[in-house]
Amino acid sequence: MFYEPRNDDHGLPYNPFKACVVPRPIGWITTLGHDGVVNLAPFSISNQLSYDPPFVFFSGSGAMEEAGAAPRRKDSVVNAENTGEFVYNMATYALREKVNLSSLHVPPEVDELALCGLTPAPSRLVKPPRVAESPVNMECRYHCTLTLPSNSAGGVHHVVVGEVIGLHINDEAITDGRVDWLKIQPLARMGYMDYTFVNHVFTMPGPKGEEYRPGQVGETADAVKSGRAKAPTPVGE
Ligand SMILES: Cc1cc2nc3c(=O)[nH]c(=O)nc-3n(C[C@H](O)[C@H](O)[C@H](O)COP(=O)(O)O)c2cc1C
Repeated sequence: MFYEPRNDDHGLPYNPFKACVVPRPIGWITTLGHDGVVNLAPFSISNQLSYDPPFVFFSGSGAMEEAGAAPRRKDSVVNAENTGEFVYNMATYALREKVNLSSLHVPPEVDELALCGLTPAPSRLVKPPRVAESPVNMECRYHCTLTLPSNSAGGVHHVVVGEVIGLHINDEAITDGRVDWLKIQPLARMGYMDYTFVNHVFTMPGPKGEEYRPGQVGETADAVKSGRAKAPTPVGE
């Protein structure tokens, strides 16, 4: 089949686009409202953008609530822009019900961490708290917002980019010096109302004959040069 998204002529019962970019990690974003109230919301349109320095993003889509009004900006977007900070917490299979609950559209004065029965853990470099139950929390400094148009009248997408300036990893989530996905079971969104989580991992070295390049396993070129980072075992071996 072929269709043109602008014409929405896929002929299927449900729009297949989101189902075709999978699995999407779920950034579980904590921010602070202007009165210091904690906001928490999941965003599956979210990911890493770079690693040196690390940038991450989440995308809040808004629609017009009344004819002629400005599109609603998600509280997470407004708060990240106003305060210049957010925390990107990792969503996991064990936390799936709370991740889902935190997507409730509630007034900005409601503390959504408390609403979901979650525990705030203090951040070190930013004011929004971390989700204590989440094994990975990235403290982010707001960098910029990319505004994308929507096909729907009055819609808009705000892609919020932040630099990760502090990274917490629960010690129990590290096995033999590596982040242990099988223990953490990161949660990801598929299409429709379907989700998946990591329960299988395989390793594949680079192709035979390929020269090792700094960055292949996430270490920075400077760290390798200075000896701070260990190069991975030779590729193709
Ligand atoms: C798993 C999951 C993923 C979601 N991903 C997105 C997303 O990528 N973008 C978006 O605008 N809304 C997304 N939502 C809906 C938002 O979480 C929801 O609109 C929330 O109320 C926004 O909160 P805020 O206004 O406090 O920022 C998602 C919901 C769930 C359950």
